[in-house]
Amino acid sequence: MEKAFVLRSARPSDHGPIMEVMPAWWGGRDLRHGVPRLFLEHFSNTSFIMEHEGRMVGFIIAFLSPARPGEGYAHFLGVDPAYHGQGIGRRLYERFFEVCRQNGRSVVRACTSPVNSASVRFHQKMGFSLAPGDGQRDGIPFIRDYNRPGDDKVEFSKRLE
Ligand SMILES: CC(C)(COP(=O)(O)OP(=O)(O)OC[C@H]1O[C@@H](n2cnc3c(N)ncnc32)[C@H](O)[C@@H]1OP(=O)(O)O)[C@@H](O)C(=O)NCCC(=O)NCCS
Repeated sequence: MEKAFVLRSARPSDHGPIMEVMPAWWGGRDLRHGVPRLFLEHFSNTSFIMEHEGRMVGFIIAFLSPARPGEGYAHFLGVDPAYHGQGIGRRLYERFFEVCRQNGRSVVRACTSPVNSASVRFHQKMGFSLAPGDGQRDGIPFIRDYNRPGDDKVEFSKRLE
């Protein structure tokens, strides 16, 4: 990756810029409620921003599980559509995997909506397994009513070497 790309830790001041780009980066889906400011306040040291020529082109919001001492959790990962397919999502995940390993975390978990088939394929490429569910869509297992009625999720896990 060329020098103009910089991968850095997140900061609380990244919250506003993340809110600005999320609907466009998620293809018009408005998931901003899923990234309240507290994530940037309290998990900035385990979350990362990719910049290109000083502009944010990707982010991962992630944390070390307080309740499960062997696990890390990736909550949201987004890349500017103009930069898809250049390895930015992979770089962001790998940076978080590094933090997990440094902190004795051997399992990383994440989840996504079954409608987000691109995210499912991306996670499979990143080496995540799909948990069995009680529903299926295009061969993808999901857990019904995961967060609340009608909010189904595909659960991912990856064991770090
Ligand atoms: C999913 C997303 C983060 C991928 O980011 P990216 O920077 O384009 O991904 P990368 O270029 O790092 O790709 C890593 C691997 O995943 C694969 N991949 C990425 N997007 C894919 C897709 N839509 N379909 C199939 N494979 C895909 C790549 O081919 C690559 O595989 P390889 O390393 O074996 O060649 C990006 O498409 C995105 O931001 N989507 C909208 C937000 C979202 O859905 N986030 C995830 C849920 S929180």
